[in-house]
Amino acid sequence: MLKGSLVNLRAVEPDDYRLLWRWVNDPEVMVYWGRPGNTESLLETARQEERDAARGTSRKYIVETHQALPIGQIDYYDLNWQARSAWTSIMIADPQYWGGGYGTDSMRTLLTYLFTQMGLHRVSLSAHVTNTRAIRSYEKNGFKVEGTLREWAFFNGEWVDGVMMSVLESDFHELASKGATAPTNREA
Ligand SMILES: CC(C)(COP(=O)(O)OP(=O)(O)OC[C@H]1O[C@@H](n2cnc3c(N)ncnc32)[C@H](O)[C@@H]1OP(=O)(O)O)[C@@H](O)C(=O)NCCC(=O)NCCS
Repeated sequence: MLKGSLVNLRAVEPDDYRLLWRWVNDPEVMVYWGRPGNTESLLETARQEERDAARGTSRKYIVETHQALPIGQIDYYDLNWQARSAWTSIMIADPQYWGGGYGTDSMRTLLTYLFTQMGLHRVSLSAHVTNTRAIRSYEKNGFKVEGTLREWAFFNGEWVDGVMMSVLESDFHELASKGATAPTNREA
């Protein structure tokens, strides 16, 4: 388990598949993933999770409050050992927890592990340009905008640009040295 200030990140268990399935079928949540009409069966979710886990280049965590309430998921994927890089994505699936610092703390907890335990150099992500809450949250962990992905997604009948962001280990450590992050998490 990775311990953060507001959340813990723990491994996904088969018992969680139903929860993950519920989240990826929730229209309110999926709007922010650019897939508002997403319809996925429990079997599809379970198979996808097992395929991803078997690939060995990704890992998904359940985001839990310190009271062990599951509120979302976060992962790294496309891990590349030679380039010491990976991609990441996050979903705080319970809207009650949006804007409460949980997403920023989840990402900070994961980045701390990736940079200080796994020795990664770079972590990348992409977001809809309209997802200003997500972009702000990423910037708080040192992510920088690298460019615009033109007409990246077809969303509610319109083309929407994407934004490419990345954080380097130096960006993250610089924030930590200013006290803006707290890289004290441990894998328990
Ligand atoms: C994106 C997400 C992970 C952010 O986590 P969160 O816990 O909601 O965000 P936080 O409270 O940690 O931080 C949000 C920051 O954005 C600011 N913010 C909130 N709403 C905003 C908005 N509409 N526009 C701009 N900034 C906004 C907050 O004030 C806060 O910044 P501050 O601390 O400087 O004031 C979470 O909202 C989420 O998972 N949403 C649904 C799925 C999603 O969008 N996933 C990301 C896909 S790229």
